[in-house]
Amino acid sequence: MNPLKHMAIIMDGNGRWGLKHKNSRNSGHKEGLKTVEMVIKFCIKKHIKFLTLYAFSTENWKRPIKERNYLFNLLEFFLKEKLEKFNNEKIKIKILGEKNFSKKLNNLLDFAEIKTRKNTKLQINLALNYGSKKEIACAFKKLNKKKKISENDISNSLFTKNIPDPEILIRTGNTQRLSNFLLWQIAYTEIFFEKKLWPDFKIEDLNRIVKKFSNIKRNFGNI
Ligand code: FPP
Repeated sequence: MNPLKHMAIIMDGNGRWGLKHKNSRNSGHKEGLKTVEMVIKFCIKKHIKFLTLYAFSTENWKRPIKERNYLFNLLEFFLKEKLEKFNNEKIKIKILGEKNFSKKLNNLLDFAEIKTRKNTKLQINLALNYGSKKEIACAFKKLNKKKKISENDISNSLFTKNIPDPEILIRTGNTQRLSNFLLWQIAYTEIFFEKKLWPDFKIEDLNRIVKKFSNIKRNFGNI
């Protein structure tokens, strides 16, 4: 059985789900929250220690302000509603990305990180205003005085410092691309592209993926 410590997810397809079912992209984001909760429960049950969710990319700033604000309000609602429960369940919240939102949201994100920093059951990494190229460029800036740069130096200068690379990356929404997500960290990750839109993604799908993953022969370049 392959060890599974870290699962990363590109939660794609909310907008299409919302348009199809309720004629509004934002209702897809709201529905997508239910899938987020299901995945968190799954990780706890399966003793998966890290869950990384791509919630807002550096490119998502191009979206209309109404949709951006809806997403930020949803995130605020989610954190305010769940933070106490997460803390009781020993869940740690970590933000991957530069916090450049409203003062209110930045403070809430800081508060969530500080309040849960000692928890060790599950670490939820929320990739927010996250872009892998930006992350790597920042790492190089931090390292620019160094004469010799090792792979470890780079890993330790990324937002994901001290987080093991994901063994599994899932992208829902029937699109096969990486969209600037964890490009350095997924060098040896098993990637699962799923046809279902994020709000339609269910626990059966997760079980199937984890079962398939556990049977993969992972050679890491060896034979
Ligand atoms: C991509 O789908 C999804 C997002 C940019 C946002 C994801 C947000 C959530 C699941 C809800 C909030 C999450 C948390 C963690 C509080 P899309 O809108 O690009 O879908 P489309 O490809 O159908 O347009």
